[in-house]
Amino acid sequence: MLKSISIIISLLLLVSCSGNNDTTQTEDYLNPELPVDKRVEILLGMMTLEEKIGQMCQYVGEAAQVETGNTDEMVGYKLGIEDKKLLIENGLVGSFLKVPGYKEANYLQELALNSRLKIPLLIATDAIHGHAMDIPVSTVFPSPIGIASSFDTLLAKKIAIATAKEMRATGFHWTFSPNLDLVRDSRWGRTGETYGEDPFLITQMGIAMIKGYQGNDFSEKHNVLACAKHLVAGGIAENGLNGAPADISERTLEEIFYPPFVKAIENKVYTVMPAHNEVNGIPCHADKNMLTNMLRNKWGFEGFVISDWQDIERLYSVHKISDSRIGADKAAVEAGVDMHMHGGQFLDNVKALVEDGIIPLSRIDDAVKKILTAKFRLGLFENRFVDENKVYETVLNSSHKELALEAARKSIVLLKNDKNVLPLAKNKKIFLTGPNANDQSVLGDWARIQPDSNLVTIYKGLKKEGSVDYLDCKGITKITDNMIKSARERAKKADVSIIVVGENSLRENPDRTSGENIDRASLQLQGRQEELINAVASAGKPVIVVLVNGAPISLEKCIDKIDAIIEAWEPGIMAGTAVADVIYGRYNPSGRLPITLAKDGQQRVYYNHKPSSYHRGKFKFTTTTPLYEFGHGLSYTTFVYDNFTMTDTISMAENLNITLDVKNTGKYAGEETVLVYLNDVVSSVTRPVRELKAFQKVYLNPGDKETLTFTLSPEDFSMLNSEMIRITEPGEFKVLFGNQAAKSFWVK
Ligand code: BGC
Repeated sequence: MLKSISIIISLLLLVSCSGNNDTTQTEDYLNPELPVDKRVEILLGMMTLEEKIGQMCQYVGEAAQVETGNTDEMVGYKLGIEDKKLLIENGLVGSFLKVPGYKEANYLQELALNSRLKIPLLIATDAIHGHAMDIPVSTVFPSPIGIASSFDTLLAKKIAIATAKEMRATGFHWTFSPNLDLVRDSRWGRTGETYGEDPFLITQMGIAMIKGYQGNDFSEKHNVLACAKHLVAGGIAENGLNGAPADISERTLEEIFYPPFVKAIENKVYTVMPAHNEVNGIPCHADKNMLTNMLRNKWGFEGFVISDWQDIERLYSVHKISDSRIGADKAAVEAGVDMHMHGGQFLDNVKALVEDGIIPLSRIDDAVKKILTAKFRLGLFENRFVDENKVYETVLNSSHKELALEAARKSIVLLKNDKNVLPLAKNKKIFLTGPNANDQSVLGDWARIQPDSNLVTIYKGLKKEGSVDYLDCKGITKITDNMIKSARERAKKADVSIIVVGENSLRENPDRTSGENIDRASLQLQGRQEELINAVASAGKPVIVVLVNGAPISLEKCIDKIDAIIEAWEPGIMAGTAVADVIYGRYNPSGRLPITLAKDGQQRVYYNHKPSSYHRGKFKFTTTTPLYEFGHGLSYTTFVYDNFTMTDTISMAENLNITLDVKNTGKYAGEETVLVYLNDVVSSVTRPVRELKAFQKVYLNPGDKETLTFTLSPEDFSMLNSEMIRITEPGEFKVLFGNQAAKSFWVK
């Protein structure tokens, strides 16, 4: 490690002594009146090879005091601020991540302004549900799995816009979001970062987020770059383990895993991040077929590819497709990776590879052009600093807080409500317990712990309502015999018990139970949470369970003892207010599951399975039906669909137009999500039993009715035949409207 650092330092000294000091007077690239392409061309023509490769390097901004035991990783961390200063002032850094706040962002930009060509830095962050990682205070929205549960793409777009505004107000320009991973194994600890299991829903959510972040072409002052990640198949990796191999058919890739990325690219996402894992023997970071032939040549990607954290290094240290670090750099750059995230050596190695004629200079120029284009379009050459006095006009302002509350409410899914125990009457005496009742676990992964006063925990939200007897459980792994005993006794004295259980994916919590790199061998509640539920239930009073979790939890062992289950996911800073609104009926729950909730042992269960999935095999001690299927979600009211109109027969090139009436037949106003699925009744290759093709939300007062219109396109009826060619086969199709109705039509 020390050797690597000293190589970098000597390289820097060399560059700083012999560097090109020619300060050109004709700095036309600084002229904002010129078109971006022209500015890029002029600037590229003035850059040395080191400066070009420097643009392809991203470092961490914080001088982190971590010891990871990984030599390469530590080289990046141990680059102190003096080393970084030298690098930046010599024009050898393109981007930073993990910059702790706007002051450091401004400082780094000041250093870049001192460099020969004054190229600004792109400052990146993992703002996947709010700008929650790199500044101490911010608006934390629900985790992506919760955003997906809203089935509300406008809401998703509004969240992305607010996030982008908070980012730009604090000097950040690039978010590693949206996460377009599709989950087919709920053991994966990163499930909460995703929009679930369905390619159509993930696509719609992804597009909405991209549009919110990037606007039309990210040239407005509130826009940031988006990043479609992780290409591809991390959600079906072996054993649900992060970064483990994915062995997956070309058909499943084309039909299920690629579409969200293809559509993200059609919608101009400007950066893409490959996945940690290998797919069918090729690590994604070295997959030229995927990163160049498909991504650029077939799908038309025009932006740049950023490696994931240390994944170029892992081509030799983990995947073993190269015997050296330089070989790994070569494989990644040749495959199509344009920027290296975190660490040293990349610059020296790639420079040597170009000088030795192994990597052509044109490959470097291509990468650098895209990176510079982003900096010009974002307006950073003109405006790289933020006004430190104005940060809090944007960050956590009242409209963002309101949006966080709206999002938290809409993300909640009511899974069970026996005998209409919910909504609760105001005068009930509540016993509240559970490790997530008064915990910042409601913020989820990729969020920093927030000042307590900025966050409404579930306990705080319920306490405002009146009498709450609260028993603190301290943490998921900290439940004791005494707590369990006391919970049983105290539950007896209340009218109703509310138990807040689940997972804790907060990255600052050393005891986290899920999240990135914390996968689950079992989907059951961890620690003694189930015992706690059983003890409280034995008091004989109604039991309401609130789940706080990113990745699905299997509750089948104790589900019969629970009267109502609220899946709150990780609702963000307004968690407690939103949960209380649902419990007391001020908000009628409208969320739907974006992922099937498996029973333990059914980890690979999903709704769009093939017709033969369950035709013979049986589990000995459990059923093959999941706990709750994709799309499930109760309301306090009832909706009825009626008056369907739909053409009986269409040609292969025609759209199918559908109308239906949705009526609120219950006593509460509320929002219904109409899910429209398609089933190809007979096909030459097997097709899923149903596939989501459209959805719409409608808000109705009791007794009100509205007519909704849906249009399915010929692409929706098409499929890949046995030669993997996209065709439409004539014949009968069925349209399914949630679980309410099914209608047939024929394609001729
Ligand atoms: C994750 C990425 C993330 C990156 C930077 C990696 O470990 O896989 O999703 O963007 O870290 O924080």
